[in-house]
Amino acid sequence: MNVNITNHPLIQHKLSMMRSVDTGCKEFRELASEIAGLLCYEVTRDLEMKTAEITTPITTATLPVLANEKFAVVPILRAGLGMVDGVLNLIPNIKVGHIGLYRDPNTLEPVEYYCKLPTDIEERHVFLVDPMLATGGSASAAISLLKNKGVKNIRCVNILAAPEGVRRINEDHPDIPVYCAALDECLNDHGYIVPGLGDAGDRIFGTK
Ligand code: PRP
Ligand code: URA
Repeated sequence: MNVNITNHPLIQHKLSMMRSVDTGCKEFRELASEIAGLLCYEVTRDLEMKTAEITTPITTATLPVLANEKFAVVPILRAGLGMVDGVLNLIPNIKVGHIGLYRDPNTLEPVEYYCKLPTDIEERHVFLVDPMLATGGSASAAISLLKNKGVKNIRCVNILAAPEGVRRINEDHPDIPVYCAALDECLNDHGYIVPGLGDAGDRIFGTK
């Protein structure tokens, strides 16, 4: 299985707090955003750099800067919205696209209902964010959609992943790296991640 798991103590602690059934909506949202920011730090670790002449108050020096600043964060609605602020905190000028997908509760197949992306999306490094990678159907469909728009550089960023979801992305899109905070045990009969954290969208937006 090809997956990058960020095994940092702060992330692991925050994730355990998120999982708890006693964690309320406000705290759950804050934790999702904080973990997204910490994951973003890891996801961007290998970005290409170049050098630029920078004048400090003391002298002029040749210093490292990002080679390409064209990024987009694309949340899969709804739950992916809970990760956007965390990414924006690290990359304030990042463009934000939206892909609306919901998982049909009977078939578990993704159903697309919305798509609005930056017009130059094909030139951008895209961070596709969704707290949950369960069967992988939603993320796989979102990646296909982005590829059809000409996007070449996509990173799939999830808080929790199931082995089934990672395998699905590895098979459908072997060129796309998957990043997560934890790889859980399995899916239950309803397609929920075990031990998981429940329904991320409902917990972020307080709809249940
Ligand atoms: C959840 C989650 C993912 C999807 C993961 O969204 O946020 O998008 O399920 O499942 P999959 O990997 O099996 O496709 P959901 O469909 O519940 O919609 P919501 O975000 O609007 O609640
Ligand atoms: N979607 C969620 O919100 N939670 C799961 O465990 C699986 C899919």
